[in-house]
Amino acid sequence: MQKRPRVVVSVGASADGKVALTRDALLMHQPSSDLWGSMTPRAADPVRIDILEVLREQYGCNAILEGSGSLVSEDAIPEELPTYDGDTTGLYRHFLPPEITGLPSPPHMWFTVVDSRGRVRWTEKHQDWDVLVLVARSTPADYLGYLRRERICYLVVGEERVDLARGIVAMGTELGVSCVLSTAGGGLNGALLRAGLIDELHLTLAPALIGGLGTPSVMDGPPLAVGEPPTRLQLLSVHADTGGSVRLHYAVTES
Ligand SMILES: NC(=O)c1ccc[n+]([C@@H]2O[C@H](COP(=O)([O-])OP(=O)(O)OC[C@H]3O[C@@H](n4cnc5c(N)ncnc54)[C@H](OP(=O)(O)O)[C@@H]3O)[C@@H](O)[C@H]2O)c1
Repeated sequence: MQKRPRVVVSVGASADGKVALTRDALLMHQPSSDLWGSMTPRAADPVRIDILEVLREQYGCNAILEGSGSLVSEDAIPEELPTYDGDTTGLYRHFLPPEITGLPSPPHMWFTVVDSRGRVRWTEKHQDWDVLVLVARSTPADYLGYLRRERICYLVVGEERVDLARGIVAMGTELGVSCVLSTAGGGLNGALLRAGLIDELHLTLAPALIGGLGTPSVMDGPPLAVGEPPTRLQLLSVHADTGGSVRLHYAVTES
């Protein structure tokens, strides 16, 4: 069987496990951004580390994974795209232009986003980083046409929505990705959990409480069925700083 890339989740949360302040406000926007930062007191010995750098050294990690929910709020109306008026058949094949996929890694990295509904618009370019979008056969043709015009790579993995297991495997087989760092919110991380795709978790807790039913948490997604066992973890390390933040590193225990 094809060995899939390692999947490591890194998430920052309040002590009660919330990863955002409210359901409606993205952390990358103000005032949430500053309020979120204010939950972490300054410390002479901060627990925060560059987890991507650690994973690059440890596993040759060359991809980050995000959900569309980190970039576009659920109620946002994305900018309309021109209608794709060509033959759409070819659109539903992976789009992997060799001038991008042939770039040597390191330093080349993938910023991967799950976006079966085609909600994210891409305006920024970053040196050494390329966007990779995971889409499905349900993704609007106009969106795939847009990605092709912008020379943005995509993998078609799934029917109604992105099949995460297929997506992760395809990142390995099509692009040579060995390890994926998920920095997503609770929706995508919860879906990765239910698909049995998480190998490790880095959880950094800030000394603050947010509360609120429905506020995104570390792992959302569908609840366990009655009688279904929780995913067991093995603690690999724990660090606390003088500001009161705690960093926990776990491996998922093989069941
Ligand atoms: N504290 C932190 O470390 C941290 C990190 C990231 C984000 N955040 C915050 O968390 C919030 C976003 O969290 P969220 O839960 O709303 O968004 P999210 O984690 O981005 O979850 C939604 C994403 O998951 C995908 N998804 C969900 N279930 C799926 C399934 N069963 N199969 C395949 N794909 C699935 C969706 O795909 P489709 O697009 O295809 O529907 C979408 O891309 C924002 O406020 C953000 O600022 C916090």
